[in-house]
Amino acid sequence: SDDKGLKEVSSFPIGGAVEIRQVLQDSSLRSIILNNFNSITATSDMKMYAIAPRDSVYNWDKADSLVDFSQRNDLRLFGHTLVWHSGTPRWVFQKASEDSVWLGNFLKTYIQEYVGRYKGKVAAWDVVNEGFDTQGGEYRETLWYNKLGKEYIANAFRYAHEADPEADLFYNDFNLERDTAKLNGVLKMIEELKADNVPITGLGVQMHLRMDIPDSLIRESVRKMAATGLKIHFSELDIIFNRHDDTRGGGEQLYSRVTPEMLEEQAQKYETVAQIYREEVPEAQQFGITFWDFTDRDTWINPFFDLKDWPTIYDSELQPKPAYYGFRKGL
Ligand code: XIL
Repeated sequence: SDDKGLKEVSSFPIGGAVEIRQVLQDSSLRSIILNNFNSITATSDMKMYAIAPRDSVYNWDKADSLVDFSQRNDLRLFGHTLVWHSGTPRWVFQKASEDSVWLGNFLKTYIQEYVGRYKGKVAAWDVVNEGFDTQGGEYRETLWYNKLGKEYIANAFRYAHEADPEADLFYNDFNLERDTAKLNGVLKMIEELKADNVPITGLGVQMHLRMDIPDSLIRESVRKMAATGLKIHFSELDIIFNRHDDTRGGGEQLYSRVTPEMLEEQAQKYETVAQIYREEVPEAQQFGITFWDFTDRDTWINPFFDLKDWPTIYDSELQPKPAYYGFRKGL
């Protein structure tokens, strides 16, 4: 019926990305969350720059509040993210440039302390985020890769597993649904990790989609991801109209306003994404679908890419869009 939230219609978890400060302050946003989601991910509150803002200083306040909020409301809390080049604070770069042995030790103590603190409270982690190049299927040459080699990935998974053996551990990346070379690179890495008994249990595919990414390509890619046997998380779903260049972060504004026809097409695409997930990912591997911002008021896309777009399922007045109903239909 019309008043059922997404989580009530879905057979797998439905999540939203949140900022704890906003969740606590904004009751309209809070009711959207509580009506629709049974999983949450922090947009930024659990990244390294938030948790370890300075040398030898940990700031657990926001993560603690997220744990508290998730427990009081029976939500699964997804940990995003342990190792990410863009989430790495400046002080870590500085120390690592003087001493790369230190970086390897820091990776270990950071993960053990962080994952250990929330053992049993954070259900799953994006252990490594965006470790591959946008094009070409090679490892991304981040600080972590350059100083520690590709072993930083296996090690990060091992440390996280030691700290919480029950937690699901994901590798997470973007464009995997459209960039076949990148997907193949990631799939090869997964095979190698599994051959080495590295405790990876999930693949996160961000799904920052664009209207012109062909459904058939998305479906084919998801089929390949599911063939790994890993749990599959559509971890950061949104669907934009305008083009943006992922490598430069610059936006190309093609649409200056949104029409009813565009909103219907977007609804169709959201429906198809839900269908693809249901049809191509075996039930036992369905970890869930998470929206990366769920209102056009709050979407990260506009400030980040300097665009005006309408990528989410709620409009800027916090009313459900056709996209909301389309997605629900696809569940
Ligand atoms: C974004 C947040 O939404 C923004 O608020 C922040 O300024 C930058 O990071 N891929 C990811 C997410 O894995 O962590 C990013 O989140 C969006 C792209």
